[in-house]
Amino acid sequence: LTEIQTMAKHLICCWIWALVALFYFQQALSFNLDSSKPTVFAGPPGSYFGFSVAFFNPDNKRLNILVGAPRANTSDQTPSTVTERGAVFSCPWDKSGSCTQIEFDSTDDRKNSKGQQMEFKSNQWFGATVRSTGDHILACAPLYQWSTYGFSEREPVGTCFLKKGNDIVEYSPCRSSMYMITKNRVVIGGPGSFYWQGQLISDDITEVISRYNKEFFTPYSNQLSTKSAGAQYDDNYLGKPVCVFCFDNKPFISPFRKMDLLVGAPLFMDRGSDGKLREVGQVYVYLGKGGFTFNNVIKLTGSEIYARYGSSVCSLGDLNMDGYNDLIVGVFGADKAVLYRARPVISVNSTLDISPQILNPEDKSCTLPGTTTTVSCFTVKYCLKANGKGAPSSLHFQVDLTLDRLKHKGAIKRVLFLHNKMPHYSKNMTVSNRQGPACEELQAYLIDDSEFRDKITPISVFMEYSLDYKTAADKTGLLPILDQSTPTNVTKQAHILLDCGEDNICKPDLKLSVVSDQKEIYIGDDNPLTLEVTAENAGEGAYEADLTVTLPSQADFIGVVRNSETLSRLSCAFKKENQTRVVVCDLGNPMKGGTKIITGLRFSVHQLSEQDTEVKFDLQIQRVALHQYAMHECKYNGLCVSTQDCGNTECQEIKCWVGRLEKGQSAILFIYSRLAVSTFLKAESQNKSYNVRSTASFSVIEMPYKNLFSELPTSTTSVKNPQPVPGWVVALAVLAGLLLLALLIFVMYKMGFFKRVRPPQDDSIEKEQLQPQENGDRNTEA
Ligand SMILES: *[C@@H]1O[C@H](CO)[C@@H](O)[C@H](O)[C@H]1NC(C)=O
Ligand SMILES: *[C@@H]1O[C@H](CO)[C@@H](O)[C@H](O)[C@H]1NC(C)=O
Ligand SMILES: *[C@@H]1O[C@H](CO)[C@@H](O)[C@H](O)[C@H]1NC(C)=O
Ligand SMILES: *[C@@H]1O[C@H](CO)[C@@H](O)[C@H](O)[C@H]1NC(C)=O
Ligand SMILES: *[C@@H]1O[C@H](CO)[C@@H](O)[C@H](O)[C@H]1NC(C)=O
Ligand SMILES: *[C@@H]1O[C@H](CO)[C@@H](O)[C@H](O)[C@H]1NC(C)=O
Repeated sequence: LTEIQTMAKHLICCWIWALVALFYFQQALSFNLDSSKPTVFAGPPGSYFGFSVAFFNPDNKRLNILVGAPRANTSDQTPSTVTERGAVFSCPWDKSGSCTQIEFDSTDDRKNSKGQQMEFKSNQWFGATVRSTGDHILACAPLYQWSTYGFSEREPVGTCFLKKGNDIVEYSPCRSSMYMITKNRVVIGGPGSFYWQGQLISDDITEVISRYNKEFFTPYSNQLSTKSAGAQYDDNYLGKPVCVFCFDNKPFISPFRKMDLLVGAPLFMDRGSDGKLREVGQVYVYLGKGGFTFNNVIKLTGSEIYARYGSSVCSLGDLNMDGYNDLIVGVFGADKAVLYRARPVISVNSTLDISPQILNPEDKSCTLPGTTTTVSCFTVKYCLKANGKGAPSSLHFQVDLTLDRLKHKGAIKRVLFLHNKMPHYSKNMTVSNRQGPACEELQAYLIDDSEFRDKITPISVFMEYSLDYKTAADKTGLLPILDQSTPTNVTKQAHILLDCGEDNICKPDLKLSVVSDQKEIYIGDDNPLTLEVTAENAGEGAYEADLTVTLPSQADFIGVVRNSETLSRLSCAFKKENQTRVVVCDLGNPMKGGTKIITGLRFSVHQLSEQDTEVKFDLQIQRVALHQYAMHECKYNGLCVSTQDCGNTECQEIKCWVGRLEKGQSAILFIYSRLAVSTFLKAESQNKSYNVRSTASFSVIEMPYKNLFSELPTSTTSVKNPQPVPGWVVALAVLAGLLLLALLIFVMYKMGFFKRVRPPQDDSIEKEQLQPQENGDRNTEA
């Protein structure tokens, strides 16, 4: 009996200390485990329901969870003396609380012809292990005892039952304790065989079933077994390595392909809300990255104390046929088993198109609804395509479109939807799962150009979608999840056609000259002064062109000269910005090419002091200079992410995970980008030169062998065009290719890094300074 106790202790220790189970998951997609609403199955109180868990998927249609309850009292048909025989329950995965006991054995302890009891089934822990493949279920009772010699001693040899369809046979080759079931064979680790030396025994399943003779001994022709050890190894439990985790608490490591790792820690202590430690148990789901390395860990924590949450774990394989792997956790201390369902992952492909992309304000081909006003319009077309295995056949999305998104709150939106005259549009869209895309086309129009000034900033159209989760639940309430790797928004840009030639890029040539009607001014006088300003554009259209005059402290602005035939009456406004006073006059939007504007501005210079020897006016023509640095085509395949929005940035950083590199392997990363040509075709950019620079670096973040290297390798390299290239050359070179090569010899991980820098542009300011006395060459005297 001491042996029974020792073995029982080991067995229990085995399960309770730490249980590591390795599974191949078909897909490493467990970010979708629904840990918020698991299904809980409960068994008879005190039965240790959940001590073992497995899945049963006989014909890939009927799906059940098998839960062992090794201390269950069975409702035997024939009255028997057996107490706490142990049982295996079958639970339909989609209905909690409806587990039924699977009938394996309800017979009483067998006796020999002399009436002596040969079997002892009470407390045999039937159901302590349950395994299943295909339509086979193997369940074992490791503490089953029987009497051999003279019926005086009882040996805990263990026994198993194998069920295939309606056939149930006992399988106890020389009395077994552990279990394993492969495709066609049963593998048993028998710590009890040959006096506790331990042995692995394997038999053909069909033979186990066909040869079953209801006797104590069944001969098998096809049995494989390990040699039992010599006498000196008695009591070493060699058979136990089938349950490798019992003795040294180390997981069994082998060079598997991609696999996920489940670790149950049933004695895990959590700090409760009151700050006290509570033993609740935890299960760790490590997502395999290849080899024996793992991504992030998902932690599932038990809720009941001392319930041994995680004492058994099992990946249920693709239980609900949706292509994802569910997970069941046994909580035998609470007589429960908890099923975590994998949420179906929906990947969405969204597209957004604008046509035409250059809007001609003169091409008024649409009519505003309810009016006769014609407007310039364009088409916005968006499509959504959804693909989610196991998700409902029709999915509901809310789609939100925003026009002219770069113009934030309060600013005038230059384009509006034709049907509602609003810049926003929302739609509840139904998309057929795994079908063609669902699309919608909308008309939008450009408002009258007298209502806005900015014709240069691109008009961005923003689309955003979200899944209506409520209607996407399956009949058990399981919600799908959107693939986290695809963005849920798209932006496209349109431009307004400018008066700037075929390329729609403006190259104005602005000139400014000023003449003063007074050469001298006098202290104490009002000194009325008229500046005759000539502004000329010899190039293409200049948008939002302004004449800005910064006033000296001695002068005040009186107004624009109006009573002259030759001078234009510009509209000018006086502004005070901080301590600086300026007069801003509108030269036109655009100030067309070939325009020459002559205007007169009147000032009075009356606050002269004796220190003043000159009075300086500062005149400038300003126009919008669009400092746009655009990286287009932000699409990253594979494992790359951009750390910024794919928008107007001077420098964009892209990070890529290369993953594990085996010896001799290399990883080459090609990054193609398109330069925003318009940036370089700007007139002010024409005579400048540019450097396009990329910096790439890699860093190894992990080695499979710790301690070999004190520092992990990293390196950085930069590439730059050898000679500064004039802007127009860059503009023509529409495609800039960057090659980053990061090669590592040893087995290592590394990380790529891509940077792009361009020098900022100067602003486009034509300057001329006017000093009233420069022509007179005389200082003002009082
Ligand atoms: C099983 O039955 C025996 C005797 O009726 C009782 O003592 C024991 O507590 C029961 N065990 C469970 C787990 O219900
Ligand atoms: C999305 O759809 C477009 C057009 O239908 C197609 O060209 C593209 O390859 C799709 N992208 C993905 C990731 O499926
Ligand atoms: C879309 O559906 C949601 C809820 O189902 C509703 O609140 C919303 O108003 C709907 N939006 C449109 C544009 O119909
Ligand atoms: C667009 O989607 C990306 C990726 O999902 C997200 O990071 C970004 O914040 C979204 N942009 C907006 C404006 O919502
Ligand atoms: C006004 O002064 C503040 C602080 O000195 C400065 O940041 C800002 O640029 C100034 N504005 C103008 C228009 O000069
Ligand atoms: C560019 O340089 C050429 C010749 O050097 C000159 O004629 C032209 O005006 C310059 N253009 C600009 C926009 O500065």
